Parts: sequence; C-alpha cells; structure tokens
Amino acid sequence: MPKDGSVVRLDGQGKPLWLVLELTYECPLKCPWCSNPVDYARRKGEELTTDEWKRVLREGRELGALQLGFTGGEPLLRDDIEELVADATALGYYTNLITSGVGLSEARLVKLKEAGLKQIQLSLQSSERELTDRLVGARVHDLKLDVARRIKAHGFPMVLNVPVFRHNIDQVADILELAADLGVDYLEFANLQYYNWALLNRDELMPTRSQIEAAEHAVQQMRERVGDRMTIYFVIPDYYEGRPKACMNGWGAIHLTIGPDGAAMPCQEARAIEGLDFPTVREKSLDWLWNESPTFRKFRGDEWMREPCRSCDDKETDFGGCRCQAFLLTGDAANTDPACSRSPHHHLIGDAVERAHAPGRTVVPLVMRTAGNARLQRSGEGD
Ligand code: FES
Repeated sequence: MPKDGSVVRLDGQGKPLWLVLELTYECPLKCPWCSNPVDYARRKGEELTTDEWKRVLREGRELGALQLGFTGGEPLLRDDIEELVADATALGYYTNLITSGVGLSEARLVKLKEAGLKQIQLSLQSSERELTDRLVGARVHDLKLDVARRIKAHGFPMVLNVPVFRHNIDQVADILELAADLGVDYLEFANLQYYNWALLNRDELMPTRSQIEAAEHAVQQMRERVGDRMTIYFVIPDYYEGRPKACMNGWGAIHLTIGPDGAAMPCQEARAIEGLDFPTVREKSLDWLWNESPTFRKFRGDEWMREPCRSCDDKETDFGGCRCQAFLLTGDAANTDPACSRSPHHHLIGDAVERAHAPGRTVVPLVMRTAGNARLQRSGEGD
C-alpha cells in the first residue's frame, strides 16, 4: 500500500470499502436513463455462477470491503440472491439490495430478511401511475407502492430512490408527500447523471434551472416539516453547479464494481471509456484486480492529472471530477471533467443545456432501454 499521507487519503486507505455486484444486466423495465451499458445485450450468457459470486464475496472481505450492494439490471431476476445474501451476511458485510421491486414477492422478502439483508433501496419514478408506467415501459407503479409498504412492514429501513429529470421534476412536492405517507426513512432524489442511456436521451431528460430550484425549495419545505423522521437527499446536478462532483471519491479509491460477466470496474459506468481493459474475476484474483490492474491504477491518486487539475487547490476534494463524463464529453478520460468551470471544455456543458432548452427544439421520443435500441446506437443512428 502507498505510504504517502495524501495518497492514502485519496485511495481510502487501500480498501475497496464499497463493493457493488451487478448480478445481471437483464431487467423487466426499459428506463431510458438506465446506467447499464447501451450494448448490455452483448454480455448475454456470460453471467457469473453462484459459486463464482461467492468467491468474489470472500475475496472482497479479505480486501476489507464492508458495504455490499446487489444491483443489476434487476438483481431479483437471479434465483440465487437469497443464497448470496446469506453468504455475505455470514462474511460480515452490510448488505443492500437495489431493486425496481419487480419480483420482490412476500416469500422472497421473508427469505431475504432471514438471510440477513440489511437494506432495500426501491426505485420510484413518479407519484402518478400513468407517468411511472409510461416512463419505465411497464405497468409497475401500483406494484412498487405495494412493495414499499411491505418493505416497511418487514422492518427494513425504507430507502426510496427517485431519479429526477424533466418529466417528473415538477412532481417533487407530490413525491415528497407520497414518501411521507409511505413512512420512507431515506428519500434520495437522484438528479440524472448523463451517461449511457441517459446521455442518449439528454436533450429530452434535462430539466431547466428553474425546475431544479423549485424542486429544491419543495425539498427544503418538507425537511422543515418532517425533521428527523425522513432524511431527504437532493443533490444539484453538476451540469448546473459549475463544480465537478467527487465521483466515486476518486477513481479506484473506495469503489469496486463487478459486472455480470465478472469484469472489475472502478464504477458502474467505466465500460463507457474506450481503450480500457476490464479483466474479470474469472481471469484474476480480486486482490490483483484492485491493487495491480492497470485500469484501476490509471486514474488512481493524482499523478495522471493535467492542468488545470494538477495545480488546483480542490484536487484532493473533487479528484478532477468524473473520468467517465470527461471521456464521454471530450473523448479523453484524463481531461478535467467539463462540469468544472475551470475546464477548457466547460462550454460543452453550457452548449448541452442550451440545446436541451432551445426554443422551438424538436421533441423526439425517448430511446427506451432495449437491445434493439442499443444496436441502433452502436451503428450511430441514435446520435
Ligand atoms: Fe465513472 Fe464517474 S461514473 S468515474
């Protein structure tokens, strides 16, 4: 492990504290902001087996991982999730299931509770049935509310995650009321980050600054009303901040994501960066992947930084922003994240905001997450 104090601060003392397992890219929903790769269908048939996931869990704990997220796609499409949760519990992880709620039957909830699952993070897209169902391409709104109540009834902390974008941001006040009714403990309004499917649909999904301010005001009012009863997160999207986010707390610092095929990644979006290799847990140990993989080392610490990051006073707090966003917007992951007002590419952010809200802009249908649409995008027709 590095001995230098500043580097230790950047790399989380060498431990992948957060381990995220993307058990599958399969999903019954078609969310047009999905963070899975646009060519996710290429990985079909490559999913790790139960025993392979169990090895990842063991090796992760040996490396010092504590927080464990099971996600996807929809992780409940795997019929071994209860077994994996039980294994993770025995190893001492704090386990979190990130789900759309589809497939979370009463029987599975009971089994997951018995297996020691600590937290369930349920997604909800709207306070209205018609809008939720249209946005995700499936009739699931009523099911999600039912699942939310049952999660609460089983004594799990109720964590509701609401992706926020142009179509639902004006409902934030209604969603807050709904969450209070449901007894939500933690409500996270996740303003979209524009990667993968969300980037494809950015012009349609991006809210205006005034919409964001109104939503933030509604959040503040509810915070004053409910006090400690509900913790509400609302982070201003970096397109409107002028400051980059401290993405992943720095590349390869504390986050380790394993894709459905076993690919080890510093974040869930990293496959978007062309030219990087992502060796899998089938080929290498987790120890090697975390400590030695050239991909993890590439942007770890601050050696890779160029100006203006290199001499920036904020480099140890924002780490130059997001490598994936830097690649997707500038074509080079080593550039300063254009969300930063000091980036020479910052105009790309302003241009995107302007284009999304240009008077008379032609509204186009959202590109829903499906294998067919991914092929469209790869051939360049979706640009
Ligand atoms: Fe990959 Fe930010 S999402 S580094």
